[in-house]
Order: sequence, then structure tokens, then C-alpha cells
Amino acid sequence: MRNMTGRIALGAAFATLAMVAGPQIMAHGDVTPQAVDTSDLPDIGEDWLEENPYSGNARAIEIGTSAYNQNCARCHGLEAISGGIAPDLRYLELGPSGDSWYVERYRNGSSHDGKVYMPPFGEVLGQKAGWAIRAFLETKYTEE
Ligand code: HEC
Repeated sequence: MRNMTGRIALGAAFATLAMVAGPQIMAHGDVTPQAVDTSDLPDIGEDWLEENPYSGNARAIEIGTSAYNQNCARCHGLEAISGGIAPDLRYLELGPSGDSWYVERYRNGSSHDGKVYMPPFGEVLGQKAGWAIRAFLETKYTEE
């Protein structure tokens, strides 16, 4: 029995290590984005909005949670709690000014000095997934 428990604990330790080591290894911005099924969400057209149309929408938050975990967590941390390699998204301001900063980064990513710090997601995941992720992040908002 002691042995069994030890083995499970060891397995868990490795799983945790893999999760923690993941971001450093992959933080090059060239990881394949994971498609997000947003067909359940109301259509919002092609033009990029400046404010989150899905704020507080329970289904959007659900979709956004999984989209975040698949596409953003490796750099920004699980539950939006940053491990330090990218900004902690819990501190993103709520409301219109936070929305516009959020969508700017989501669409265009961030590169400087020829290095990609964050890849752009606007084209690959689309607007609906972007706002669904933002709806999830709003639920994690924490005052600095
Ligand atoms: C490859 C790592 C990486 C991935 C993946 C990534 N980001 Fe980022 N993100 C960064 C880094 C690094 C910065 C800081 C960029 C800078 O300051 O120039 C950043 C900045 C941001 C900012 C601005 C934060 C602030 O406080 O200014 C937002 C918003 C953001 N990311 C959202 C997302 C979302 C949403 C996703 C998933 C769809 C995502 N990021 C995926 C690395 C990443």
C-alpha cells in the first residue's frame, strides 16, 4: 500500500513538472493554436467590436475557459495565474478600456526586436473565441 501511494505521488509530481516545464520550452509563439467551437454563441459579425458582447454570458465563459486553457495557459498560467513568463491576466482592467487593450493584444500579439513574445490570435481563432476568453478572464479579475 505504501508503495502504491508513493508511485501515484511520483506520477503526479511528473505531471506537474511537465505542466510547469511546458511554457518555458514552448514560449516561442510557434505552437499550433487549438480550434475553438463557438457555434453556440450569438453571431457578432465580421467587424471587430471594441467591447465584450459576451460579458457575463455563462456559455461564453464555459467555452472561453477551455479555449484559454488550450491556447493561453501555457504562457499566462492555469486559472490565469501567471507563473511569471507573461503578464498576469487577472489584473486586466474590467470594462471598455480593458476590453480594447485585450482585443488589441489578442488580435495582434506582441513582438519587439524581431522576437515574438505573443503570437497573434485574431485570424486563427477568430473574434467569437476571443471575446469568450475575455468573458472567462473577467471572472478571474483581481484588484492589483
Ligand atoms: C507564447 C506565449 C503566449 C501565449 C501562447 C499567449 N500570450 Fe498573451 N502575452 C504573452 C507575453 C509575453 C505578453 C507580454 C507582451 C509584451 O508586454 O510585449 C502577453 C500579453 C498579453 C496581454 C496584455 C497583458 C497586459 O497586461 O498588458 C493580453 C491581454 C494577452 N497576452 C492575452 C492572451 C490571450 C487571450 C492568449 C490566448 C488566446 C494569449 N495571450 C496567449 C505571451 C503569450
